[in-house]
Amino acid sequence: MVEVNPPLPRNETLESVERRRSVRLFKRKSVPEDYLNAVLRAANQAPSAHNQQSWRFIIIRGNKKKELAHLVTSRAALFPRPASVLLRMAARSIISAPVVIAVANTGELIARGADLFQVEKKTALDFFRTMEIQNSAAAVENLMVAATSLGLATVWLGILFLIKDDILSFLGEPQGEFMAVVPVGYGAQRTKGPKKISVEQVVKYLQ
Ligand SMILES: Cc1cc2nc3c(=O)[nH]c(=O)nc-3n(C[C@H](O)[C@H](O)[C@H](O)COP(=O)(O)O)c2cc1C
Repeated sequence: MVEVNPPLPRNETLESVERRRSVRLFKRKSVPEDYLNAVLRAANQAPSAHNQQSWRFIIIRGNKKKELAHLVTSRAALFPRPASVLLRMAARSIISAPVVIAVANTGELIARGADLFQVEKKTALDFFRTMEIQNSAAAVENLMVAATSLGLATVWLGILFLIKDDILSFLGEPQGEFMAVVPVGYGAQRTKGPKKISVEQVVKYLQ
């Protein structure tokens, strides 16, 4: 008997996932507060190990945003190319976006992990640090896909890891771990983004 698969129905979630592209310059147009809140709710809905939600989202606007861009530009000079160039580009994205969301891990899961699982301290540290990073990565992806679904654009600025101590102290999260800085706004450019390698190249089936 030949199995006939029904056609895939139209699906807004899949469309948002496909449509999301990194955008690095933004229009001078503010993000409505309820849009920002919806994006933050989506981030906070991400799965997390032990449901620990070991993330913090720090919203940066106005003068603080200018200060952050200035901090990044001033530190860029301390690095050789291409890091210096990428840091300056990141500063430009930060300044052009109406709002920037920084993501830091709290370290709470790491602190509680050894007791929770009664494993050796080093194993617990590796395990729970990895869990915290994965928790936040899931939250950032939720954030970016939700933003896309609302017509907003984002980019994950990982390059700021190079100056993570400065960034964490700027964010008032000195005990935390740097995860991401994500400018959010209405994209100034339309971009198709870089070509992706095909699904066939990244998937294998075992049966
Ligand atoms: C962990 C991570 C760190 C990234 N860091 C940067 C960055 O520092 N600067 C930047 O311009 N883009 C950064 N990106 C965006 C990637 O360059 C982008 O996702 C990739 O080129 C694919 O393009 P797309 O997002 O449009 O699909 C980062 C993405 C990820 C997931």
